Amino acid sequence: MKTLSSIVSTQRFCLAAPKPLVIVPTMGALHAGHAALLKRARLLAGKKGTVVATLFVNPTQFGPNEDLSRYPRPFSKDQTLCRKLGVDLLFAPEANAMYAPDSSTWVDESQVSQGLCGGTRPGHFRGVCTVVLKLFQICQPTTAVFGKKDFQQCAVIARMVRDLFLPVRLVFADTVREPDGLALSSRNAYLTPDERAQAVVLQGALQEARTAFSAGQTSAIKLSKLIEKRVATAPIARLDYIAIVDGSTLRPVKTVTAGSVAALAVFFGRTRLIDNLHF
Ligand code: PAF
Repeated sequence: MKTLSSIVSTQRFCLAAPKPLVIVPTMGALHAGHAALLKRARLLAGKKGTVVATLFVNPTQFGPNEDLSRYPRPFSKDQTLCRKLGVDLLFAPEANAMYAPDSSTWVDESQVSQGLCGGTRPGHFRGVCTVVLKLFQICQPTTAVFGKKDFQQCAVIARMVRDLFLPVRLVFADTVREPDGLALSSRNAYLTPDERAQAVVLQGALQEARTAFSAGQTSAIKLSKLIEKRVATAPIARLDYIAIVDGSTLRPVKTVTAGSVAALAVFFGRTRLIDNLHF
């Protein structure tokens, strides 16, 4: 496995690399969820193709009061995992290489990025779209793999790819969970044992909504209230948002159907966790 930080060297590597070239964009602090994405990438690339993992803690997708400075950066551990999983290139650029000091070009998706995480993290998806387009420009991937835990991120990237005619196939992989249902996230590492124990309420609340839906409850307001009430049983949980939306448009629905998605973000102490459920 090669590790590169230079953009020009990465462009050259990717241009010459055997195709298909499958990219897995990450911010590092890799866990079993990322491992699943990398394994999927290896399968999609086949033995002869190329797998590129990118590792970049993208400053432009963090708000001023978010966790950019404390975001975990276990670089050599990440490198070892990538090597073990058959990654061909680990691209880990510096922030000042990805963004010139007078950088002034942004990608702004203006529909599916509204509401949910876009509502409580203004500018987040502008940062995500901009960096993902830069990574696509550098690596020219045949296919890109993202995790479904970031449900809105998948929708925003799909819209960007469609609207800008980007010649890349998107693959969205299922969320990997701890045995108690907590979705794997690099941010789980911040949780104290008590916060970790209480964070299980996210899945509990979503599963309760699924059970109520299966029993005939289709009112989005009632199902949201149910989720909210269950989340409130965890004394330190502080709700950021709950939304029940159409799975394609991400617009709020009144009546829940099989195509609806419940998405939520909840703070446990200073740590904000997200999860979602496809009804
Ligand atoms: O999902 C992430 O880790 C990031 O948002 C991404 C897609 C790597 C862009 O920085």
